[in-house]
Amino acid sequence: MLKETVRKSFNERFHTTGAVYAAPGRVNLIGEHTDYNLGFVLPGAIDKAIILEVKPNGTESFNVRSIDYNEETSFVANGQKTPYAWANYILGVIMELKALGFTTPGFDCVFGGNIPLGGGLSSSAALESAFAFAINDMNGFGLSRMQLAKVGQLAEHNYAGVRCGIMDQFASLHGQKDMLMKLDCRSLDYELVPFKLDGYRVILLDTNVKHSLASSEYNVRRAQCEEGIATIIKRHPKVESLRDVTLEMLAEVKAELSPVVYNRCEYVVKENIRLNAACEALKKGDILSFGKEMYGSHEGLSKYYEVSCKELDFLVDVAKSVSGVIGARMMGGGFGGCTINVVAEANHDEFVAAAVAQFEKQFGKKPTVYDVVISDGARKIS
Ligand code: GLA
Repeated sequence: MLKETVRKSFNERFHTTGAVYAAPGRVNLIGEHTDYNLGFVLPGAIDKAIILEVKPNGTESFNVRSIDYNEETSFVANGQKTPYAWANYILGVIMELKALGFTTPGFDCVFGGNIPLGGGLSSSAALESAFAFAINDMNGFGLSRMQLAKVGQLAEHNYAGVRCGIMDQFASLHGQKDMLMKLDCRSLDYELVPFKLDGYRVILLDTNVKHSLASSEYNVRRAQCEEGIATIIKRHPKVESLRDVTLEMLAEVKAELSPVVYNRCEYVVKENIRLNAACEALKKGDILSFGKEMYGSHEGLSKYYEVSCKELDFLVDVAKSVSGVIGARMMGGGFGGCTINVVAEANHDEFVAAAVAQFEKQFGKKPTVYDVVISDGARKIS
């Protein structure tokens, strides 16, 4: 459907056909705000994506139409930002490729998507990944998926102003059906972890509280982690990031850190421990222990990293009160967006009904419910 919509729109606008590419959003089961601290994450790509149709136009101009915003713009790659926020992600990708020595010839393009915007499912990373993948493929630049993920990440830093980690772009480009990926954000090695949950479902509940990471405290959290590291390094010069820090090391410097910075650092150290425990549990098929680590993650994000909000906390509390919900937590950067819930098949309907009704009673609006299917990463469709 989305593909047909994109094709129809491209044909109406440019009277020709081009190549079609897709790149998905992602979920992350556990390991939040650990990527830029060079720790571990456990994402998977999902069955919601950005789809684009593109054709070189023999000029230096990029003529791009967004179906969802019902807007179109034309720009050249001189680094000058466009008035359209969505177009700056595309410009960013083209500029970061240029910085690597790869010049993108002009193209005509139409794109659309079904990833909820601002929902914590990485719609912006999917946009960057779709364009990075398509441009690389069309022009035979020969960059690896990991290199393309880094291009997308730099576009986000330099053209959207968010100092994000590598997780979202990595997941959008490397996703595989039914697989989570345990990524070591320092070495960038990753391990596929099968995620076929017999008898369980993954449900997202979207608070519809929109977050904008640029204007949120995301960059502040990153700076607080860096502040912590600067102090720890004085005693432990080999430490590179919070990845290398133990709870014992943190205890040694507690008096030298502000309580806020201490809490941020402790959260990150503990989240890496939780992620490793969760992965071991998953490999053993111990889904109950896996879920406990998810609840632990939420508590840390809410109380110590302070990136949750009352709507997210409310939904996690509802999850705890319904039997059969194995684990629940806020997902992504925070300050809004979705909770991710692992729920026994038998309790699915009961949980959704309880969450929707109680949320509506409390906040006067319904959360949106998505069932998640772990799917393939960026690809050429036709
Ligand atoms: C956003 C960022 C990611 C990551 C998460 C939090 O999604 O883009 O790099 O830091 O927040 O885990």
